[in-house]
Amino acid sequence: TVLILDFGSQYSHLITRRIRELGVYCELLPCTQKMADLHFKPKGIILSGSPYSVYDKDAPRVDPAVFDAGVPILGICYGLQEMTTHMGGSVVACDHREYGHAMLTVAKHPDHPFIDKLFDGLSGDIQVWMSHGDQVSAAAPGFTVIANTRTAPFAAVAHNEKHFFGIQFHPEVTHTVDGQALLKNFVIGICECAASWSMDSFVDKEIERIRSIVGPNGRVIGAVSGGVDSSVAAKLMHEAIGDRFHAILVDNGVMRLNECANVKKMLGEKMGINIKISDASDLFLERLKGVTDPEKKRKIIGNTFIEVFEAEAALVDKECGGNIEYLLQGTLYPDVIESISFKGPSATIKTHHNVGGLLEDMKLKLIEPLRELFKDEVRALGKILGLDDELVWRHPFPGPGIAIRVLGEVTKEQVEIARLADNIYIEEIKKNGFYRQISQAYAALLPVKAVGVMGDKRTYEQVIALRAVETKDFMTADICASAEWFVCLKRVSSRIINEVKGVNRVVYDISSKPPATIEWE
Ligand code: XMP
Repeated sequence: TVLILDFGSQYSHLITRRIRELGVYCELLPCTQKMADLHFKPKGIILSGSPYSVYDKDAPRVDPAVFDAGVPILGICYGLQEMTTHMGGSVVACDHREYGHAMLTVAKHPDHPFIDKLFDGLSGDIQVWMSHGDQVSAAAPGFTVIANTRTAPFAAVAHNEKHFFGIQFHPEVTHTVDGQALLKNFVIGICECAASWSMDSFVDKEIERIRSIVGPNGRVIGAVSGGVDSSVAAKLMHEAIGDRFHAILVDNGVMRLNECANVKKMLGEKMGINIKISDASDLFLERLKGVTDPEKKRKIIGNTFIEVFEAEAALVDKECGGNIEYLLQGTLYPDVIESISFKGPSATIKTHHNVGGLLEDMKLKLIEPLRELFKDEVRALGKILGLDDELVWRHPFPGPGIAIRVLGEVTKEQVEIARLADNIYIEEIKKNGFYRQISQAYAALLPVKAVGVMGDKRTYEQVIALRAVETKDFMTADICASAEWFVCLKRVSSRIINEVKGVNRVVYDISSKPPATIEWE
């Protein structure tokens, strides 16, 4: 295992991704992690970049024990500066913030072959990506310069005895052309980690782990939504403990067209998962009556969900003799990282259903088999577990569902219009081969009426807005806008107007995120 200590850089997650792509397991922990409290012994440590300057009053610092752990260390950008300051070198502010490409010249050291290992196999000038306002002005004692750029004389340094390395550029971004080769040199060549982390080994290990936690008689309950994460978590749980896993799907009345029946077919009939559908659609819609404020809608749906799920869980528990001990949640690694970051939970994280009451009242313990994985790893896991491609590549769908896509008051009739339009939209997207390249697409129903003409008659009906975005992390997103895509949109528009009663106009949302969000509410 490689330990990555996070100083809050926007690229820290990427370091973790890159190392795992090399088949080496790694964990990202906040830079405030105490070495004495670590639950594993790392074979190497990486110090990330940071938005801070080492001379800031509140600059994040690592536990000095990091430098006495006796394992190789790679400091990236701020990580290099932190290591340099700690070990007696100096760092100064650059005259100009350097951001963008730079050419790196690597120096060889035949007398110290070990420090040449970082650039093993890389020769000549290397294109690297810089993003910094400070830089090293004097290397710490014992450090040798192993590479420089025109403006950074200490672009890469190494300590021959301690096996500490520091680089000013970012190897984790794709703009650094040989970045992955450099990271490989560090984790495999220098730290001597084995490239043995793979999804296959994860499945076996995780099933074993679940079995040993739950025991031969214990039971687990969990909510499923038809989304990728909860479906993969449910499948894994089913593989581990079979019918002792109880899945519950709460019908909140604002799901996609035929969603409950589809999930029942997929998870229940096809995968053999013990699933119960709890139809609470009337209750949700009753509580949403007259509510137009988006935040209020979210709260009502979130709270009602908890209430319904808790009641169902208590029922299932009673039916099987009070043996439910665990609550399954499909928490992913980015959520875990977010909640343990040294800066505290950030406001950008999406709202999760908080079933805290269950944990307290029924004394359930949490079980989170996906908490070490990134989204694309969850998809890979889903494939290994035999989930249909359709499910593995499904676009995300928000917990409050169509309620936040029917702008204004949510009624059964309005939900039905949005649902039918969305279904046509997704059908055409799939038929025309756009589904995989789009990150998320949906139809929203606007609370306005427009004039139109159909046959010889004037119409006065509602407007559907189509949204389609491409994004890596859903924090920022671009709209889909190719010429071929507009041809597809035209077809969607004509089908919706012809097939969905109550709609006479379709518009396409061309706002990127930020400043717009992906959802309208
Ligand atoms: P926004 O609208 O914030 O959406 O740009 C970013 C991503 O999060 C999804 N989203 C939600 N997911 N519960 C969820 O489970 C929610 O309340 C929620 N709100 C937004 C949204 O669909 C997009 O993928």
